[in-house]
Amino acid sequence: MGIFKKNRITYTDFSQIGIDLHSHVLPGIDDGSPSMDESLKMLREMERIGYKRIITTPHVISALYPNTKEQILGQLYHLQDIIAQEGIGIEVEASAEYHMDFEFLGKIQQGEALPFGKRNFLLIEFPFQKPEFSYYEILYQIQLLGYEPIIAHPERYSWLMNRMKLYEGLKDRGMLFQLNINSLSGMYGLPAKIAANQLVDAGMIEFAGSDAHHTGHLLEMHKALHNKHFSKLLQSGKLLNSSL
Ligand SMILES: [Fe+2]
Repeated sequence: MGIFKKNRITYTDFSQIGIDLHSHVLPGIDDGSPSMDESLKMLREMERIGYKRIITTPHVISALYPNTKEQILGQLYHLQDIIAQEGIGIEVEASAEYHMDFEFLGKIQQGEALPFGKRNFLLIEFPFQKPEFSYYEILYQIQLLGYEPIIAHPERYSWLMNRMKLYEGLKDRGMLFQLNINSLSGMYGLPAKIAANQLVDAGMIEFAGSDAHHTGHLLEMHKALHNKHFSKLLQSGKLLNSSL
């Protein structure tokens, strides 16, 4: 829902986005929701602020959260049962946020991927330090396997920030970009907010995500609703969330 104000639309909730593709709602399997109670609280809040469906994406990080496809789906089915019992009106599916570490490509080659959407999407997180290896080559291998990579929060990696050529290099190779809504609200600091604004201005963002680890992150997102770049992103005509 939105209202026209000061020559631009000010949104009152996130119903225009409708489908979220990045969150940590499954209980107890990463640094997201620690309990079923918190998961239900998060889902009630997501329903309240306008989401109809979410594809939740627990971390898959070899050294920290080595979640397998079976573990993720097991937690998903458990959560879906409780959602039905509680009468929460939001659809939940699961994929993962795959960290590009030394085991990443091997896992995908072994059939460990949980793709989502109509185009076999995979949400991929880069290392927060500049990778020593060729990330272009790994992303190309992922594409050859039939998956379409979405780069999670490209605005948050310090080695990419302010380097438009590197962002363009990824775009030239067919990568899609998912922005964290809370980067626009300033939750990750000023450098991430500036990079987020630049990517929105350049029309490079295809997906908006909550990346919610707890209810607090969802409440924080409200600050973005009055943000000029949030409005610009929603009116860019480039967002693919609703097509998932
Ligand atoms: Fe995440």
